[in-house]
Amino acid sequence: MDDPFLAALHRFAMAEGGDHFELVRPMALLADALGRVVPAPEQRRTTLPVVDEHLAATLETGVGPAADLARMIAPRTSWAAPYPEYAGEPDMDAMRLGYAYSPVIGAAYDAVSGGAATPAYLSDEVFVGMVLQGPGITYPPHVHKAVEVYWVIAGTADWQKGDEWSTHGPGTAFLHDTGVRHATTTRSEPQLLFFAWVTDPGCAPVIVRL
Ligand SMILES: [Fe+2]
Repeated sequence: MDDPFLAALHRFAMAEGGDHFELVRPMALLADALGRVVPAPEQRRTTLPVVDEHLAATLETGVGPAADLARMIAPRTSWAAPYPEYAGEPDMDAMRLGYAYSPVIGAAYDAVSGGAATPAYLSDEVFVGMVLQGPGITYPPHVHKAVEVYWVIAGTADWQKGDEWSTHGPGTAFLHDTGVRHATTTRSEPQLLFFAWVTDPGCAPVIVRL
């Protein structure tokens, strides 16, 4: 693997699979797919106010190998708000004001942002990226078919998985299996996350309201 970022991500996937039993299969899928990832054509880079306000500081204070990956790729990524199809719904409008994500490896047309952001690398097998969630923002409960792993780079926040809420900070890794409902609420600080969907990268997340 000649590309320095892809090589670093491959080493990271192998190491994470070795460190966490539940990540063995997800990280094997990611590592395997990385061998078929190709660079995307260079595109106009996009940003959002929450990114301009918090990205530099969260990158600087971020800890762990996921932070190293984020610092490596951040200069080449573009950012957008997800879920344009939910615009006009109050909780989603509130979220989208303070929540940005950046596709790093994904499809040429980024469906989650309605094409507003473009990935740095192309794959139809995995979807890898970063999330920047500003302070006091709730990402409502949602589900998706994709098996998802998150790594917290910076910021301590409240996380829901199934019916359970817990509080986590930098260095935490989460696995959300297919169909498991999850949510995240930030407190007084922003959080920067690295994520990977290792199956079903084209699936559409669905917000769950009871
Ligand atoms: Fe998710």
